[in-house]
Amino acid sequence: MSPRIRKAVFPVAGLGTRFLPATKTVPKEMLPIIDRPLIQYAVDEAIEAGCDTLVFVTNRYKHAVADYFDKAYELEQKLERAGKQEQLELVRNVLPKGVRAVFVTQAEALGLGHAVLCAKPVIGDEPFAVILPDDLIWNHGDGALKQMADAAEATGASMIAVQDVPREATGSYGIVATESFDKRQGRISAIVEKPRSEDAPSTLAVVGRYVLNPRIFHWLETTAPGAGGEIQLTDAIAALLKEEAVNAFRFQGTRFDCGTHLGLIEATIRYALDHEKLSDAAQRLMQDALKELGVTELE
Ligand code: UTP
Repeated sequence: MSPRIRKAVFPVAGLGTRFLPATKTVPKEMLPIIDRPLIQYAVDEAIEAGCDTLVFVTNRYKHAVADYFDKAYELEQKLERAGKQEQLELVRNVLPKGVRAVFVTQAEALGLGHAVLCAKPVIGDEPFAVILPDDLIWNHGDGALKQMADAAEATGASMIAVQDVPREATGSYGIVATESFDKRQGRISAIVEKPRSEDAPSTLAVVGRYVLNPRIFHWLETTAPGAGGEIQLTDAIAALLKEEAVNAFRFQGTRFDCGTHLGLIEATIRYALDHEKLSDAAQRLMQDALKELGVTELE
């Protein structure tokens, strides 16, 4: 048994260049799927997993993320006066009572590993979660992080979410080699960042959910910058797994890479088709759009 995670880190200090020009002013994490920004889905998943302290690693341009979690007095007053109770609850529940948000600045975008290291003073000496909000995971059962937190609590090992990807896609991911899997978990024996398909040790790709033991900070502090002068989380994990168990975790759920155009579109379609009020209308819209464009048969 290991202590339950209580703190989650959201590294949101990247530049989001793939969504320019939108991300000139709107951080990638604030892009919405239907009516909620990506960061809200990530925060809800962390709270469901048992976290009550949310650490946002931001940069000086990302006021929108802090503003979003701040109390909106004027808006709340207006909604209250107008009797818009449902909307008022939505605004208030962005951050439920008992959950605190902490903002940490990453002065320079020196990589994901560096962003996680920036959260060290808030995390201290306990296991914690890292969530990349642009990896959106959809399912009807327990959220991916809750599944991982339960497993980490039971085994004491760090957990890294993985999923199978086509071999030609390994160059876009961290890829792990594992010992054999017992149910959803397999101990990682090696991890490499973005290998060419012919060099990849497997097709099991890391996705943006981690439960990490605090020892990772030692390795983040001592790991030399890798590709592009950035401190890579993958390199620190590669060092950690040589001294303690780090398990790959095959979560239950469908992951959308909302850091890419197609991933964001795919997630929007999926959430719309699964939406209790919008589903039928969304289906009709999609059929009409295909008809209008003359798409009669899908390959
Ligand atoms: P990405 O590789 O997706 O980079 O970062 P990015 O800047 O967000 O987006 P593109 O590629 O330019 O479009 C993975 C995660 O790590 C965070 C990002 O915010 C994202 O959640 N990150 C990356 C930081 O917080 N700091 C960094 O220095 C780098």
